[in-house]
Amino acid sequence: MMVKHGRVVCIGECMVEFYCAEDGSWRRGFAGDTLNVAWALRALLPEQIKVDYFTRIGSDSISMEMLEFFNGSGLGTGHVQFDQLRTVGVYTISIDKNGERSFSYWRSHSAAKKLASDLSSLEAAVKESDLIYLSGITASIINELGRKNILSCLRSAKTKGTRIVYDPNYRQNLWSSPSMMKRFTSEIVALADIALPTFEDERKAFGDVESKDTFKRLLGLGCKEIVLKNGIQQTEAISFGNMKKIDVEFVKVPKDTTGAGDSFNGAYLSARLIGEDITSSVKRAQAVSSYVVMERGALVEQEALLKAFNG
Ligand SMILES: Nc1ncnc2c1ncn2[C@@H]1O[C@H](COP(=O)(O)OP(=O)(O)O)[C@@H](O)[C@H]1O
Ligand SMILES: [Mg+2]
Repeated sequence: MMVKHGRVVCIGECMVEFYCAEDGSWRRGFAGDTLNVAWALRALLPEQIKVDYFTRIGSDSISMEMLEFFNGSGLGTGHVQFDQLRTVGVYTISIDKNGERSFSYWRSHSAAKKLASDLSSLEAAVKESDLIYLSGITASIINELGRKNILSCLRSAKTKGTRIVYDPNYRQNLWSSPSMMKRFTSEIVALADIALPTFEDERKAFGDVESKDTFKRLLGLGCKEIVLKNGIQQTEAISFGNMKKIDVEFVKVPKDTTGAGDSFNGAYLSARLIGEDITSSVKRAQAVSSYVVMERGALVEQEALLKAFNG
């Protein structure tokens, strides 16, 4: 993949995360699917390629701590927006007696819901970038106007040569209706240069029975490079009609699968951006995500990710 500007931009929502530690105390972190991808890209790409995170946060102290966290992670924050009235969303991870995890969210009034409300700031944020990454979670939290702005912004970026990457990351309760989700998905996948779905999400969203169904639908919309994650099952990738099936080599008994798909995406795109082919990019992504499932939390030490990436 050609890199011209040396800049990639991830768009989405980061939340304050509270998780219950083994001693019963609550610990605070920051996470969110697109942030996890940005984190992995920053860990794995050479320094000359800038990784920007674009979102909207509040102007209060917790928002400033989040901003500090982005900066401290090596992410570019020059276009982050500040809302005077809203603040950032929160979620908690609880673990019950059987080790089952459950999530609770307070995000329905978060600042990030308005991240795409203004088309010109959106356009400014992605100007002169090689790649824009966003997900179905990003799309689901903004309103219809925001989605319209996103599509219009991506369309013009694409004409200037920016690659569009989309992970549908379907979460039923974030979308107000399945039809809205389906309509947006068709429009954005038609624009996407790369789609990075997970089979389980596609099954839930579209009733896909086998991977063929997913490929047929996404190829039909015009997307040319598709990588379908499927847990410990083979990863299937198609690029310009050429299908590859790649076994997951390092199957683990996972400790925490949070962020597996996100780190996979970050590693896959890093490998593609430094010029690797589909197969070796998938293999590197599998190696990184198999490491991530053995660690607690979505974000794993950046040096450790790089080590897994380099094998
Ligand atoms: N138990 C596991 N052992 C090793 N690798 C795993 C395991 N679970 C997931 N992975 C890796 O993480 C990738 C993404 O996981 P998956 O569950 O398919 O996506 P998501 O996190 O989006 O639901 C898989 O393609 C695989 O490479
Ligand atoms: Mg996912």
